[in-house]
Amino acid sequence: MNLRPPTRSSGSWILTRGPGSTEGGIWSELLIVAALAASGAYIAQQWTIRHPHAGPSPQVQNVAALPNLQLIAYQELQQHDTRESCWILVRGQIYDVTDFLAQHPGGALIILSHAGRDATAAYSSHHPPALLDNILSPSQHLGAVDPATLPPGHHASSAELTEDEQRVKQARAEIPPLNMCISVQDLEDVAKKVMSKVAWGYCMSGADTMSAYKNNIAAFSRYAFRPRVLRPVSRVDTSCSILGNPSALPIFVSPAANAGLGHPLGELGIVRGAAYGGIIQGVASTSTLPLAELEMERKDGQTMFFQLYVNKDRQVSERLLREAERRGFKAVLLTVDTPVPGKREMDLKTRGLPTPAAAAAGEKQLSSTQAGIANSLGDYFDANLCWDDLAWLRSVTKLPIILKGVQTVEDVELAVQHGCEGVLLSNHGGRQLDYARAPIDVLYEVRKCRPDILDEKKIEVYLDGGVRRGTDVVKALCLGATAVGMGRPLWYANAAYGQKGVVKLIDIMAEEIATAMRLLGVTNLSDLKPEMISRISNFDPRKPYHLPVI
Ligand code: HEM
Ligand code: HEM
Ligand SMILES: Cc1cc2nc3c(=O)[nH]c(=O)nc-3n(C[C@H](O)[C@H](O)[C@H](O)COP(=O)(O)O)c2cc1C
Repeated sequence: MNLRPPTRSSGSWILTRGPGSTEGGIWSELLIVAALAASGAYIAQQWTIRHPHAGPSPQVQNVAALPNLQLIAYQELQQHDTRESCWILVRGQIYDVTDFLAQHPGGALIILSHAGRDATAAYSSHHPPALLDNILSPSQHLGAVDPATLPPGHHASSAELTEDEQRVKQARAEIPPLNMCISVQDLEDVAKKVMSKVAWGYCMSGADTMSAYKNNIAAFSRYAFRPRVLRPVSRVDTSCSILGNPSALPIFVSPAANAGLGHPLGELGIVRGAAYGGIIQGVASTSTLPLAELEMERKDGQTMFFQLYVNKDRQVSERLLREAERRGFKAVLLTVDTPVPGKREMDLKTRGLPTPAAAAAGEKQLSSTQAGIANSLGDYFDANLCWDDLAWLRSVTKLPIILKGVQTVEDVELAVQHGCEGVLLSNHGGRQLDYARAPIDVLYEVRKCRPDILDEKKIEVYLDGGVRRGTDVVKALCLGATAVGMGRPLWYANAAYGQKGVVKLIDIMAEEIATAMRLLGVTNLSDLKPEMISRISNFDPRKPYHLPVI
């Protein structure tokens, strides 16, 4: 890997070897990048503009040589378990984080719940090893725990891994060769095995009962094909254009935050894989890597769209938009289904976190009812964002606007009236409002009620949510979509195999799309028509067709 010269305020590349790291090979390269991403100065600079829970940026200290470390008795650590004096044990080292509590972007409560104890597992599931020493001053690193004082069954060696880290290490060593994956589901199955529990929970989680998440996938089964025969199909063209930008396939990467949780190289594998596969990438405003990094990786002619959550402080959003425009992003995906976050239980469980409302109650000492209200007024999102704000958006960017998260034909009509260039029918992959309809059913509604919008291209219509097969893509295009997005599948492919996994996924989709087109009797995407599918009205999505057991 070629390291570029340092350009950030941190001034130098930092290379730390985490416990259990091997010399050379891909994982040591990955550690370098993880350490870079953890650079304190950089985080402070990016924090206020990029993170959904924008608060004060963490105080950044120069990385300096550590003072002589002391051995501290475990029982001494246990004394410091309050807001007034809060110590934590991470990988055998003891830190005084009392002064840092108020600055912690994840909130004081989460650290306090590990005060006076071993916080290694909790800390490691959120942060790379180097972060602590980059952000805290040397004087806050108090020393190492005295192993002789540890309670039975407790390990202090920094070389020891948590149970989940051990499982992941083992699973990574046994990862199946990529060519064993022949479907999108296969890639997901591997990802589940080799990802940390936290990364898996974060990505797969849907809201509440997960009904919207499951229904997104099942809903495609309600549409069946009416193929035409005896048509020459040896040549097939899967290419299309999305807002004038060419794409090799009618699929794009739906923006999914924090790819770094799944893969130490963050979004890089997705950027490189998308370039190779010739598809467009939606980049989340809460990506692990900054836009500058992604721009540097982008190949000539590669198209990226920028996803935006509108901040209460419009200047923050304006800065982001200007940056995206300057860096050559070609459209804005304005997310409109997230005035407040959904309740993602799988995510909360694997992290051992309180719900945002309960956390707010703990922090602000409110009743849970008050906290629920406080939560709905989160620090970052503007819960009062409305149609009139589109005029503001137009005034700050020349980029075409795609509304992401539209879920009714009425709102598609409003998007047309407001002059938006595109709508992405989406329920955020079932992560926001549970029981929100599947996007393919919303598209069906648009087809039934306002076919003119689709046929006359009054606006480009896309969907995402539950797309796992080439046939899913072809069904959406038959109903009038220009293209469809995929979120989790690309995140998983990247987490499991990095760039190669992303390329594999795109290859699988390309093959399935081309095969479905041929078997349907068409050779161009523009030939896909509504009469080529029918909706099965009495289909029970709880009993989908099953593969025969071989
Ligand atoms: C008990 C240990 C800790 C836990 C469970 C924890 C958890 C979290 C969580 C949940 C977030 C919010 C969002 C996110 O994941 O991006 C966060 C953000 C953050 N935390 Fe911690 N934290 C811990 C300790 C620390 C310590 C000791 C430091 C530094 C000395 C630190 C520095 C940061 C920074 C810089 C961010 C914002 C950047 C980011 O990672 O996205 N945390 N933390
Ligand atoms: C103490 C309360 C909270 C905790 C511990 C928490 C923790 C986290 C963590 C760990 C992540 C993953 C890292 C990330 O995407 O940055 C996350 C993502 C996110 N959080 Fe929170 N959060 C809390 C409250 C909130 C609130 C109040 C809002 C909004 C008003 C919010 C909105 C989001 C959004 C939009 C994402 C981003 C990515 C996605 O769409 O999946 N969170 N949160
Ligand atoms: C891990 C993850 C993170 C996501 N982050 C964002 C985000 O930051 N902004 C956004 O608009 N949508 C986000 N989404 C929603 C996706 O853009 C997309 O709508 C959804 O994943 C589509 O469903 P699918 O996962 O079934 O393909 C995220 C989805 C996942 C799974």
